[in-house]
Amino acid sequence: MNVFGLCVTVIVFGISVEAQLNSTCNSNDSMVLKRFMNGMETAIDGWTSNSSNCCDWDGITCDSSGKVVKLELSRKRLVGTLADSLASLNQLRTLNLSRNLLKGNLPTSLFHLPHLEILDLSANEFSGSFPSSVNLPSIQLLDLSDNNLEGPIAPGLCINSTGVKELKLGVNYFNGEIPPEFENCSFLEHLCLDANLVSGIIPEYLFKLPRLLRLSLQDNNIIGQLHNTNPSNLVYFDVSLNLISGNLPDFFHTFPNLSYFAAHSNNLFGRIPPSLLNSGSITSLILRNNSLIGSIDINCSAMISLTFLDLADNKFLGTIPDNLPACPKLKMIDLGGNNLTGQIPESFKRFESLSYLSLSMCNLNNISGSLNVLQHCPNLTTLVLGGSFDNEEIPSDSNLQFKSLKTLVIPNCKLTGKIPNWLNGLTKLRILDLSWNQLNGPIPPFLGNLSSIVYLDLSNNFLDGMIPKTLTQLPGLRSRNISLEVSLDFPIFMRRAMNGKVLYYSYGIRFPPTLDLSNNFLTGEISPEFGNLKNLHILNLKYNELSGSIPENLANLSSIESIDLSHNDLCGEIPVSLVRLGMLSKFSVAYNNLTGIIPSGGQFSTFSSSNFEGNPGLCGEFVLNCREVEDLLEKQESEEEEEVTMIGLPVWTGFGTGFVLSVVLLVVVPRIRDTKRTDKFE
Ligand SMILES: *[C@@H]1O[C@H](CO)[C@@H](O)[C@H](O)[C@H]1NC(C)=O
Ligand SMILES: *[C@@H]1O[C@H](CO)[C@@H](O)[C@H](O)[C@H]1NC(C)=O
Ligand SMILES: *[C@@H]1O[C@H](CO)[C@@H](O)[C@H](O)[C@H]1NC(C)=O
Ligand SMILES: *[C@@H]1O[C@H](CO)[C@@H](O)[C@H](O)[C@H]1NC(C)=O
Ligand SMILES: *[C@@H]1O[C@H](CO)[C@@H](O)[C@H](O)[C@H]1NC(C)=O
Ligand SMILES: *[C@@H]1O[C@H](CO)[C@@H](O)[C@H](O)[C@H]1NC(C)=O
Ligand SMILES: *[C@@H]1O[C@H](CO)[C@@H](O)[C@H](O)[C@H]1NC(C)=O
Ligand SMILES: *[C@@H]1O[C@H](CO)[C@@H](O)[C@H](O)[C@H]1NC(C)=O
Ligand SMILES: *[C@@H]1O[C@H](CO)[C@@H](O)[C@H](O)[C@H]1NC(C)=O
Ligand SMILES: *[C@@H]1O[C@H](CO)[C@@H](O)[C@H](O)[C@H]1NC(C)=O
Ligand SMILES: *[C@@H]1O[C@H](CO)[C@@H](O)[C@H](O)[C@H]1NC(C)=O
Ligand SMILES: *[C@@H]1O[C@H](CO)[C@@H](O)[C@H](O)[C@H]1NC(C)=O
Repeated sequence: MNVFGLCVTVIVFGISVEAQLNSTCNSNDSMVLKRFMNGMETAIDGWTSNSSNCCDWDGITCDSSGKVVKLELSRKRLVGTLADSLASLNQLRTLNLSRNLLKGNLPTSLFHLPHLEILDLSANEFSGSFPSSVNLPSIQLLDLSDNNLEGPIAPGLCINSTGVKELKLGVNYFNGEIPPEFENCSFLEHLCLDANLVSGIIPEYLFKLPRLLRLSLQDNNIIGQLHNTNPSNLVYFDVSLNLISGNLPDFFHTFPNLSYFAAHSNNLFGRIPPSLLNSGSITSLILRNNSLIGSIDINCSAMISLTFLDLADNKFLGTIPDNLPACPKLKMIDLGGNNLTGQIPESFKRFESLSYLSLSMCNLNNISGSLNVLQHCPNLTTLVLGGSFDNEEIPSDSNLQFKSLKTLVIPNCKLTGKIPNWLNGLTKLRILDLSWNQLNGPIPPFLGNLSSIVYLDLSNNFLDGMIPKTLTQLPGLRSRNISLEVSLDFPIFMRRAMNGKVLYYSYGIRFPPTLDLSNNFLTGEISPEFGNLKNLHILNLKYNELSGSIPENLANLSSIESIDLSHNDLCGEIPVSLVRLGMLSKFSVAYNNLTGIIPSGGQFSTFSSSNFEGNPGLCGEFVLNCREVEDLLEKQESEEEEEVTMIGLPVWTGFGTGFVLSVVLLVVVPRIRDTKRTDKFE
């Protein structure tokens, strides 16, 4: 999915399909197209000179008289500027040049074509402002999204071009208020101004536009309170990431068809109004990251369409509402980051539609009882409980069963006990994160039987013993064909980053294939069979007590991006074969007892000396020269007492450090945790 996915509605314009007409190109139009082609810095595929009839060229459609009516050249990587002469194609009905590298100002003459119905110049690099004079009497769809346009929002558009149905101006730098003459664009069905600098309030006349179904204003500077009195047809309304303040008005009866309502990341406070808690049309309600208060009082007899409820990161109080299973279609719930207390209610045993549940950073207790209840939810695939429990024992009851579970994320709860046997039955599990707890004992070999695992994070616990060899057999980490994304059927948010590029926010966090066993007390050698994990992207074994040498076979980790073996007791040389790892961007073996010469070449030329420090016997170009090392070693033999030594139990700092899942809203970048653990040292 991409930014345009946000703005898409299916609208059939009733344009007749052009027949294969074999017409001969109008000579004037032919000249215009040749001039257009010559103006491009790149050649246009399929516009070779072997046919002089431009009606035969790729992306060109002519009418029976040979006049060009469609010019469709999207995704051709065309570089250049558009000349005003294109407007001489005065019969043009469709102009689609989306997804190229076109730059410069928009040619103003293009905005005066009498027959133009579709103008799509999205995803280019146009700059400048919206043309000051527009007369597109036939226009139905105008898409200028994802460019660098600035200035006022489509001024004057609705004076001459009132028939426009879809107006997409998202991901630009348009500023100022929504212009009052939009009132006259009475055919508007879809307005998208996402990710601009729109200010002012949302004018009430927008809601009155008789045909407007989708209004998307996310990531702007819109202020004020929401207000509406007359019935509106809106189906989709997104004002997320703005500066809307005040209470959510009790006005949802004026939106009888509203299905998607998102207002996350504003300054909303107060309670959720009754008209929203009783809306029969809402399917997705996304109000996370506001200051809403009170208890969560959904009326499930009324909210019969509700599928997705996201009220995370607000100030709700009380217990987890026990009536939620009565909402007939509710599948996905995120109530994390609220001060919800108690345990998962017994009623959840009958929650058949529940598929995704996130309650991270709540204030729950009784993890045993809670898991006991949730195991009865037949469709539960994702369970996120990070930071929600405090210092309880992880249940060891081997009868616990989660047949559908694909994602289990319970970090940061100071859970005690051993890694439980009931995990053995989770054959669909792809992601297991039990990091930052106080689990002890060995890593059980059965984890290697969990055939779907692609992400295993057991870091920051008190685990000891050897790393079971079975972990090197995990099929999900061995086969390169396993997909990396955990796809949740969730909305995607996007906003512009500082560098002008668009970031995509998603509930479907990207978990790169990972094995993270760092910050434990693991002993023994690193088995050469780790080299079999060809799908592994991140291998983190730092801060353990691993000994022996670094196996040559790690050079077979063909997908690996990050290897951290620092702060162990490894000896021997760094295998030269590791320079073959072309994707490796992070590598550390600091603070071991390695000797010999640091391999050079390949990615190794990009690693700084800090990744090798703390190995007195190691030398290389940019660390120390090899003679100095020999001198140093001699000196150290007498001073060995002064060396840093590991001390007993680490100090647990609790929440905060390295904790990512408190907010499930994440940018789609690899999640590489890099926490300094100086507390293991004196
Ligand atoms: C156009 O030409 C193609 C072959 O080049 C032919 O099959 C088709 O019938 C022609 N159409 C018309 C309307 O002449
Ligand atoms: C080309 O344009 C000229 C000037 O507008 C016009 O006189 C002429 O008829 C046009 N030719 C064709 C083939 O349309
Ligand atoms: C132009 O000629 C090339 C090579 O002869 C051929 O492959 C291509 O299909 C021709 N293009 C058109 C539009 O006729
Ligand atoms: C323009 O072309 C692209 C790629 O073919 C397509 O995805 C897009 O829908 C087109 N735009 C319009 C308005 O039809
Ligand atoms: C409306 O169209 C006329 C005729 O093309 C043009 O002169 C005028 O500038 C247009 N008005 C706006 C506001 O674009
Ligand atoms: C809407 O159009 C009417 C009639 O053309 C005009 O009188 C009115 O001023 C327009 N409204 C705005 C806000 O431009
Ligand atoms: C809501 O949808 C129904 C059916 O799709 C339609 O008849 C009605 O006009 C829409 N608008 C309002 C305000 O109810
Ligand atoms: C939460 O909302 C604030 C504005 O109210 C915004 O600055 C911040 O980025 C939002 N946080 C997230 C994680 O979206
Ligand atoms: C809940 O919804 C039902 C059905 O619409 C309605 O009869 C009932 O009064 C509502 N309860 C509350 C407390 O609003
Ligand atoms: C959460 O609520 C409980 C009881 O409702 C209260 O004792 C506690 O102080 C609250 N915690 C926070 C962080 O507000
Ligand atoms: C449970 O999941 C199955 C398969 O995805 C689906 O067909 C079924 O409708 C779901 N049950 C409920 C109650 O949603
Ligand atoms: C480092 O390795 C050497 C042998 O290569 C051994 O003699 C020495 O004791 C080791 N040092 C530590 C701190 O383990």
